[in-house]
Amino acid sequence: MDRLWISLLLLAAACRGQPCPKRCMCQSLSPSLAILCSKTGLLFVPAAIDRRTVELRLQENFITAVRRKDFANMTSLLHLTLSRNTISQILPSAFSDLRRLRALHLDSNRLTVIKVGLTNLRHLILANNQLHSISPHAFDDFLSTLEDLDLSYNNLAEVPWDTIGRLTNVNTLNMDHNLIENVPQGVFTNLHKLARLDMTSNKLKKIPPDPLFLRIPVYAKSKGSPLSSLVLSFGGNPLHCNCELLWLRRLTREDDLETCASPPDLSAKYFWTIPEEEFICDPPVLTRKSPHTVAMEGQPASLKCKANGDPEPEVHWISPEGRLISNSSRTLVFPNGSLEINVTSLKDSGNFTCIASNAAGESTGRVELVVTAMPHLANSTSRSRDPGTAPLSRTYSSCLTSCNA
Ligand SMILES: *[C@@H]1O[C@H](CO)[C@@H](O)[C@H](O)[C@H]1NC(C)=O
Ligand SMILES: *[C@@H]1O[C@H](CO)[C@@H](O)[C@H](O)[C@H]1NC(C)=O
Ligand SMILES: *[C@@H]1O[C@H](CO)[C@@H](O)[C@H](O)[C@H]1NC(C)=O
Ligand SMILES: *[C@@H]1O[C@H](CO)[C@@H](O)[C@H](O)[C@H]1NC(C)=O
Ligand SMILES: *[C@@H]1O[C@H](CO)[C@@H](O)[C@H](O)[C@H]1NC(C)=O
Ligand SMILES: *[C@@H]1O[C@H](CO)[C@@H](O)[C@H](O)[C@H]1NC(C)=O
Repeated sequence: MDRLWISLLLLAAACRGQPCPKRCMCQSLSPSLAILCSKTGLLFVPAAIDRRTVELRLQENFITAVRRKDFANMTSLLHLTLSRNTISQILPSAFSDLRRLRALHLDSNRLTVIKVGLTNLRHLILANNQLHSISPHAFDDFLSTLEDLDLSYNNLAEVPWDTIGRLTNVNTLNMDHNLIENVPQGVFTNLHKLARLDMTSNKLKKIPPDPLFLRIPVYAKSKGSPLSSLVLSFGGNPLHCNCELLWLRRLTREDDLETCASPPDLSAKYFWTIPEEEFICDPPVLTRKSPHTVAMEGQPASLKCKANGDPEPEVHWISPEGRLISNSSRTLVFPNGSLEINVTSLKDSGNFTCIASNAAGESTGRVELVVTAMPHLANSTSRSRDPGTAPLSRTYSSCLTSCNA
């Protein structure tokens, strides 16, 4: 009787579950089920996968696309490995049933863009793909759960920094071996758990000091650094070694691999061997400035102010009334120091001040602009006797007083 029961139970179990997919190994470590199908020559995700699977490994196959049905109903799946396939496409909502998924390994594939909607993800490994862009909302669903993000060895020139800055639980951020040129200041401020930040081999000329770096000890080495510290790797970047990198020079060093790319006298020198006092910035020096400029009322005017310095100075303009000029419907302030007024008015006459500033100081210059009145418009009253031009000049004249703003 007992035997019969056991046979019936076994039969029932076999009927409920799916058979193990061909050439795969299925481990039923009750209550969880792991299916291992690595190096089995798969071209697709097998259809006959038990939907209760908890761990699924499909690495080193020839899967090219992830389809909607591949992981449908796999609500128990915690760990999915698709590394080392040839995946170039993940169809929308392909992962939408994986509500419990914690780790997704997609490294060494051919992905060029990524969008995964997963709410509990902790580990997202996207290393060694061909990613060239990441949409700003790609990580929105797991901003607060993600602990480990690996974007290394891709083609990323831009990273959605706003999103990165909101990964409040992140511990490891690997962005090495990409084409990143710029890290915005303050982006890591809220990443209190960050312990490892790898920016090796990008195109960074500088790395701004971050409030996070000031709060916790930052090490440039992993060996022997205390647990509650951040290890920052930045070798293999074309570092511009001026005073802005002094904070980095003051870190505990690892080895002598990092070199400076510029300025010329520090080029190719080992970062850690350059004395702190050689990390210099040069204050701005005005090299070119518009002379006294005359413009006819209503015509455009262009005021120029060029400054050299290290780092590259920013130029701001102050109006004759002492106001900082910004881009508006009438004025454009260009990063190269040019101020363009596209329609001048008599009220624009006066002394404009340009201020060039950088980390080492500032320098100011004055450009006088004289706007001259248009002779044939200057006197509408005398012209109003002429019936042909009167309406036109009245229009101009009313515009002169009311269209200046
Ligand atoms: C998923 O579940 C739905 C509803 O139970 C079912 O209709 C569908 O066939 C299942 N899909 C797969 C791939 O198992
Ligand atoms: C002046 O420039 C602004 C912004 O570039 C533009 O919107 C506006 O039409 C220009 N005005 C004239 C008269 O060209
Ligand atoms: C003003 O606009 C120009 C042209 O669109 C742009 O290049 C420049 O950076 C802007 N300046 C500021 C201060 O935003
Ligand atoms: C600055 O840039 C603007 C817009 O690109 C250009 O029109 C202007 O000629 C430039 N000025 C100088 C001094 O190079
Ligand atoms: C600009 O400054 C110069 C020198 O201080 C002065 O002679 C000139 O009157 C000023 N121009 C205007 C329009 O205030
Ligand atoms: C402009 O018109 C007024 C009278 O309305 C006259 O007194 C003045 O001389 C005129 N000025 C010129 C420059 O024509």
